[in-house]
Amino acid sequence: MRFLSLILACAAVATRADFLYDTFPDYFQWGVATASYQIEGAWNVDGKGDSIWDTYTHAGGNVVKNETGDIACDSYNKYEDDVQLLQDLGVNFYRFSLSWARLLPTGRVDQPNQAGIDYYNSLIDALLAAGVEPMVTLYHWDLPQELDDQGGWENEDMVQIFNEYAVFAFELFGDRVKSWITFNEPYVFITMGYGQGAHAPGLQSPGEKVYTVAHVVLKAHAEAWHSYNELFRPTQDGVIGITLDSEWKEPYSDDPEDIEAAERAIQFCLGWFANPIFGSGGYPTVMKEKILEKSLEQGYEESRLPEFTEEEENRIHGTSDFFGLNHYTTSLVQNADRPSLVPSYLNDRDIITRVNSTWDRSEWIFVVPWGLRSLLNWISDSYGNPNVIITENGMSDSNATLEDAHRVNYFRLYTNNVLKAIKLDGCDVRSYTAWTLMDNFEWAFAYDVRFGLHHVDFEDPERPRTPKASAEFIRQLVADNGFPE
Ligand code: NOJ
Repeated sequence: MRFLSLILACAAVATRADFLYDTFPDYFQWGVATASYQIEGAWNVDGKGDSIWDTYTHAGGNVVKNETGDIACDSYNKYEDDVQLLQDLGVNFYRFSLSWARLLPTGRVDQPNQAGIDYYNSLIDALLAAGVEPMVTLYHWDLPQELDDQGGWENEDMVQIFNEYAVFAFELFGDRVKSWITFNEPYVFITMGYGQGAHAPGLQSPGEKVYTVAHVVLKAHAEAWHSYNELFRPTQDGVIGITLDSEWKEPYSDDPEDIEAAERAIQFCLGWFANPIFGSGGYPTVMKEKILEKSLEQGYEESRLPEFTEEEENRIHGTSDFFGLNHYTTSLVQNADRPSLVPSYLNDRDIITRVNSTWDRSEWIFVVPWGLRSLLNWISDSYGNPNVIITENGMSDSNATLEDAHRVNYFRLYTNNVLKAIKLDGCDVRSYTAWTLMDNFEWAFAYDVRFGLHHVDFEDPERPRTPKASAEFIRQLVADNGFPE
């Protein structure tokens, strides 16, 4: 038995290390991504309203060097240059997000901003003329400030307000946009924005707010999906889904408690949003159990995790035409009883995160390409092999020259693991999106952290973009549709 496990372990290591020379299926699509606040700039021109990120950055003290996205890559004025870069890369699609406050300065549909509508019409038309399909994210974190003043995502009214905004966008752009994403990384904007306060709107309340906000966001997502499904799909014939994010969580040891802890860690991040939509419905059992246990210990009368009614659970279940996945890295997870005296969404899961010092390290994250393959298999096993679109994957390498060899290596190995997941494991992955088209405003790290395929000179008012070696790598990868021998 021991001998057999040794052979299996060696086989696993060999599969992890081997490079697969093969091409992706013909239907496979390639893209790159950005987000409105990170690239557009033009924060207060042509009638745009303020977003929570304008407020958060202008407040000072929240972001590295007190930088802002006021100008960023100036894509509001330079979108034609961006389209040219996309055309040069030869990608099939461009994933970008709409600035809600540029379209609807108050967040409400009764007061649209024509200049904002014109901007996105021009961008979409330019993309299509260049042979690049638009993939549009409705919410990539820049909530109109006026809606935050009314309670933001804690306010149950946001379910209908978001739905109205979504319908407004489908009506305006749905004749040309055939791929929609409701929310980008709810886990991150909720835990950072409403738990740790490290993102806008900067609230620190790690005990229960994150759970109540997630509850509203899941309902808002579902309403937008139903609206598209019923009112627009019959004539517009597109797809709509959600983008979730997760690291791969590798057990710290082969102790069953650590194996269980790693599983629990994924459930508390990915499963939190995926189980209601793609899984058995409602929150993962392990979340319900753990949070109830901790809440009672802390003197609450009921769980800090809210419950869906049966009707809500059914209304949310199945509301995604694809599984949008953002993935960057892997961590090791060990079981640990965390004190439950202080309510904290981080303590609820009873784990500690460890590092593996033998893993290749970039400035921010560990480069663990097989982690993406493991995660794709986990998603396939957990949710009945849904069709996955990888909506983000990438690595920051801020001090690299234009010869960003480390990032090239990252893309080469991560995409190869996507190929393995498809060809060797049967995972249904349909597309891959590199984060990101160009260096941009990296949230709390502003311009200190660079993820771009193109270098942007933020000192120069013209914001010139220059391709890095990774842009050439992606261009070749797309042209070859993989790694032909
Ligand atoms: C995920 C987010 O969607 C994106 O906005 C961010 O820049 C990247 N991760 C890199 O941190």
